[in-house]
Amino acid sequence: MAAKTIVDLQNSSIFILLCLFSCLCYSFFFFKKRNSQGCDLPPSPPSLPIIAHLHLLLSPLLHKSLQKLSSKYGPLLYLRVFNVPIILVSSASIAYEIFKTQDENVSTRYLPTNEGSLFFGSSGFAIAPYGDYWKFVKKIFTTNLLGPQALERSRGIRAAEVNRFYLNLVDKATKNESVEIAEEAMKLITNSMCKMLIGKSFSEDEEKVRGLLDETDVMSKKFFLAAILREPLAKFGISLFEKDLASISHSYDEVLEKSLLECEEHNQSSELLAALLEACQGKTGEYKITRNHIKSLFVDFFIAGTSNSTNTIKWTMAEIFENPKILERLREEIDSVIKKTRLIQETDLPNLPYLQAVVKESLRLHPSSTLLLRNFQEGCKVRGFDVLEKTALVVNGYAVMRDPDVWEYPNEFKPERFLPSSRSFQEDETKEEVLKYLPFGSGRRGCPGSNLAYLSVGTAVGVMVQCFDWKIEGDKVNMEEVPRTMTSTMAHPLKCTPRLRNVKPLISIV
Ligand code: HEM
Repeated sequence: MAAKTIVDLQNSSIFILLCLFSCLCYSFFFFKKRNSQGCDLPPSPPSLPIIAHLHLLLSPLLHKSLQKLSSKYGPLLYLRVFNVPIILVSSASIAYEIFKTQDENVSTRYLPTNEGSLFFGSSGFAIAPYGDYWKFVKKIFTTNLLGPQALERSRGIRAAEVNRFYLNLVDKATKNESVEIAEEAMKLITNSMCKMLIGKSFSEDEEKVRGLLDETDVMSKKFFLAAILREPLAKFGISLFEKDLASISHSYDEVLEKSLLECEEHNQSSELLAALLEACQGKTGEYKITRNHIKSLFVDFFIAGTSNSTNTIKWTMAEIFENPKILERLREEIDSVIKKTRLIQETDLPNLPYLQAVVKESLRLHPSSTLLLRNFQEGCKVRGFDVLEKTALVVNGYAVMRDPDVWEYPNEFKPERFLPSSRSFQEDETKEEVLKYLPFGSGRRGCPGSNLAYLSVGTAVGVMVQCFDWKIEGDKVNMEEVPRTMTSTMAHPLKCTPRLRNVKPLISIV
């Protein structure tokens, strides 16, 4: 662990030095001032010569330091890294204005792509420009994976995995063994995702895939700076992390190709894979894609769908353990709606408003993706200030969801605020201020998996609350966050031992 940290620090120092050196040369030789003369740009904090605000983006917990920056200098800031302009938004009302009036204009993420790579490559979805390819993929994935009807069709897959998750915890409880919540949640979510995406689990490659997801997570952290510095470094022909990307991409390729071949051989593809293979053969007539596209899309959806949900499950359980009264109220609700004879299932969730409110509140305080990254394609006005074309947009979702102007007791865990009977909840709905709640982003590039996420997180948390008492290792939960990440991830394992609440195991309706 210590060795890993040292290597990580070394890597980031080398990376920062490389960036500084390259961009210094760039600024010296190629610096062309963007035409901002005569523009009324948003306020800007003091900057350093040449690197401008780069140093502000190197902080270990970026979402928190940017939140501090905006409480000092204002909720709409103009930052610069060398000559790359960035707009930083930290208040709910400005985020609302941008997503309401500029949604199409900010519907592209200008992130670095690597030709041929399955991960951050040009055939993926999350960094595809807003256009025909993106729309085509969104339609296929909504129809066959994430839309309400597709989710209903795949309910059996998730129910079987939830039952496996439950039986595994029963086994641990019987043996009085401890579990790490994120590890168990990760197994549940990756198995369900694999079966929904491809049609089968990764079986013997399960461990390899989980290792890959960890590597991917570490890699994603570095992409924030890579995205910002893409333009200057590209002038030197420097593409950051090319080797790391190629290695991750190669590993994903191996696992996916093996799984695709097995599915084709045994004719057991998921409905999504079948639709993508048809598009591959040009049968749909809309857009012809290649096998590489299919693998890139699977990598994107697999990563987006697993890490965030796992993270949310861990944060939610941590908050529940920290608030015994909330645990008690959740149990009362679940026991009165479901009784003590069968296991909670997805279709119970609409009848469990308090459980839903707990998950929502956990996503508000601990949004997995703390910073939303987009780019203004065209110049426009925000709050009367000029924004130049191609400016990067960073919405600090973490700060927006703790904005004291729109949230009462913003730093406290208060699920009641999301109950339908809550006064502020109703006011928000009528004021259309829903954009103060951004755990899934917003607009057309907002998360397409939010419905699936609510189902998966709700049932996983529901099972752990309904069926077990928990003995936490160390008695207190350590809520520290992992530094240098783009996500809000708990730094320490959440280890605890489950104890069965009922002597008789509950019946699962699969
Ligand atoms: C608790 C779980 C999840 C959280 C907190 C989450 C959060 C987010 C956020 C904040 C974004 C960026 C939105 C923006 O820029 O406005 C995003 C994008 C995305 N998410 Fe999720 N997500 C979750 C689960 C899922 C699931 C289950 C899937 C699918 C299986 C998924 C697929 C995606 C994809 C494909 C994108 C990129 C969308 C695009 O570029 O058009 N996410 N997610």
